Amino acid sequence: MLKISKVSRRFGSKTAVDDINIEIPAGQMVGIIGRSGAGKSTLLRMINRLIDVSDGTIEFEGKAVSSLKGQALRDWQRDCAMIFQQFNLVPRLDVITNVMLGRLNHRNTLLSLLRIFSEDEQLMALKALERLDIAQTATQWAQTLSGGQQQRVAIARALMQEPKILLADEPIASLDPRNAQIVMDALAEINEQQGITVITNLHTLDTARTYCERIIGMSQGRVVFDGTPDQLTTEVARELYGADGLAEAFSEAMTSTTLEAAKPRQKKKKHMAIVPGTAFAEASLPN
Ligand SMILES: Nc1ncnc2c1ncn2[C@@H]1O[C@H](COP(=O)(O)OP(=O)(O)OP(=O)(O)O)[C@@H](O)[C@H]1O
Ligand SMILES: [Mg+2]
Repeated sequence: MLKISKVSRRFGSKTAVDDINIEIPAGQMVGIIGRSGAGKSTLLRMINRLIDVSDGTIEFEGKAVSSLKGQALRDWQRDCAMIFQQFNLVPRLDVITNVMLGRLNHRNTLLSLLRIFSEDEQLMALKALERLDIAQTATQWAQTLSGGQQQRVAIARALMQEPKILLADEPIASLDPRNAQIVMDALAEINEQQGITVITNLHTLDTARTYCERIIGMSQGRVVFDGTPDQLTTEVARELYGADGLAEAFSEAMTSTTLEAAKPRQKKKKHMAIVPGTAFAEASLPN
């Protein structure tokens, strides 16, 4: 369980995130939506401590991660992997080495600096690449790959951290619809098969509806919607994006009109049930 309590973040006089309370049970796939400037990236960056909270606490499995320091902070950042819109790979390094860099927090710094990786680590990286269906690119420079392939390399690198949570900040915003679908499918599969919690900022409503069992809508630093895709009505969307932003929210690359498979995914191994008092608690499938 990730518990965000009364969290705010200010930049000078600007309040980017304003008194947010969210509980995310292990294994959930959550989409965060909202207009540009709503505070989505700031929230993700506070979770993995790229930036600090101004107020409030973030707890994971009962531990206050918002105040960790030193090794404990590095351990948290290993448990909480992050991928970005611009992939953040090392362009003139081959794909497999990029992926192995995901082990940095697990190992001796000098060996990492010299980029000496064990056979086990090389195997693990190859398996991660196979899993994402791009093992054939292992020896290519990262910069020679397509955007969709690069994002899959970034996901493979994140998996090398053996994270408990995977944060994704607009992971498909730079991709065409086909690659966007491949990347979202990969995130959904990792969530389903490994039970890794996935929290992703998304620009388009349809993507959030298709892939996420829970959607959190932000506006001006606050949570203004928290519910299932079904509960996210056009009225709520209008409130989130404003009448003028609604068309934009529906019309970006990955929409139900451009994507054949844009029907809500069904989780294969488990499903989420809404239990009174503990919204979005996890429930096992009946035998
Ligand atoms: N380092 C910073 N210094 C000053 N202001 C910042 C900083 N980071 C974010 N902000 C401000 O905080 C607010 C929220 O920004 P944030 O990047 O979290 O929004 P967002 O929802 O991710 O937007 P987008 O959809 O454009 O990525 C914005 O007004 C932004 O200008
Ligand atoms: Mg952002």
